[in-house]
Amino acid sequence: MQLNFQKPVQTSSIQFLESHADLARYLKEECAAKGASVLFDSGLGKIWKQRVIGFGVPEKRIFALPQGERAKNWSEVGKAIQFLHKQSHERNVPVFVIGGGACLDAGALVASLYRRGVPLVLVPTTLLSMVDATVGGKTAVNLDVEGNLYKNVAGTFYPAKNIYYWSGWLESLHKKERLSGVGELLKTIWLSDSDVDIENLRQWIDGEVSEDNLWKNVRKAVAYKIQVVESDPLDSLGKRAILNFGHTLGHALESLARGSISHGEAVAWGMWAESYFVCENRSNFYEDIRARIQALGFKPPEIIHQIKPGAIAACLYSDKKMSGGKVLVSALTDFGVIKSVSAPPHELAQFAAKAFQGL
Ligand SMILES: NC(=O)c1ccc[n+]([C@@H]2O[C@H](COP(=O)([O-])OP(=O)(O)OC[C@H]3O[C@@H](n4cnc5c(N)ncnc54)[C@H](O)[C@@H]3O)[C@@H](O)[C@H]2O)c1
Ligand SMILES: [Zn+2]
Repeated sequence: MQLNFQKPVQTSSIQFLESHADLARYLKEECAAKGASVLFDSGLGKIWKQRVIGFGVPEKRIFALPQGERAKNWSEVGKAIQFLHKQSHERNVPVFVIGGGACLDAGALVASLYRRGVPLVLVPTTLLSMVDATVGGKTAVNLDVEGNLYKNVAGTFYPAKNIYYWSGWLESLHKKERLSGVGELLKTIWLSDSDVDIENLRQWIDGEVSEDNLWKNVRKAVAYKIQVVESDPLDSLGKRAILNFGHTLGHALESLARGSISHGEAVAWGMWAESYFVCENRSNFYEDIRARIQALGFKPPEIIHQIKPGAIAACLYSDKKMSGGKVLVSALTDFGVIKSVSAPPHELAQFAAKAFQGL
């Protein structure tokens, strides 16, 4: 006997809203009028919550998830599911998740589990979540084992039905989150064979200019990510590996820096080091990366000069891209030119530790 259990193709409708009035209209029509529930990033604060209530969403329909990584755990996911149950949230009614990447990861997991899946609407509110955490269908929680945080250990593939982008959220982002988002934005833009206006980006990070120019790059980054995700929706063919540019050494740096740098900052230095690794003597593109990220205000964390190869290797051994005892590094040798190299972790770690020490 055989049972062919086919999942229907899922289409996400992605809209870039032009104004606050557009956001208000969509939340009124799609959220409030449909009796949707909202899982809300408490880091957005009371003012944003009051605005959402002002759009017609009753307060009792809003569940606040703790800000940042604290949202990504079983206990919060469980509480949110209980909340939906107590609201008698029906199967065809959407769940809106409004917040940064951590809130979206946890909230989307909730939507995928409650009644085995309810329609999910994502409203990203940080730059990083806009360019990376909305398109791709990945949901996640972390695992805390004896004080060590293991990121994204459990999750599902659950693409949103609708995604609403609006640049107005970005105005209230602090510099640290701006810098982190820019790290991830640069990765996608550079992979897509373009460059960015570095001085304008620096001004945005420092709060000197509006989101106008940045927004064009956000659209470009989202379009590129859509293209990559469509080529390998379940991340099973290896095609999404290029989106890990900067992340192999970036993740190692992020965990060894123990919170002293953000994810996007770690990715920026990771891009530089990985590009250095794959460029060998053929190109100096990695120096272009370094010049650009330094001009933007990225600073290597103090600890970077003391990191030992063994510590980096230990992180690399747990990398999801390990295969046959080697780790795959896909990095740029020029804008849009990707080169992949497989290396034993200790070799890559030796190289990276030396490169980091020389910074
Ligand atoms: N699912 C995916 O494909 C995917 C991709 C990339 C990253 N992620 C995940 O995303 C998370 C990182 O996302 P992040 O960088 O958005 O961080 P985050 O979600 O931790 O948010 C950073 C901080 O900004 C606050 N915040 C949110 N919106 C704000 C706003 N408009 N103004 C002011 N403050 C605001 C949050 O409350 C939080 O304190 C990580 O957990 C990462 O694993 C997921
Ligand atoms: Zn990332």
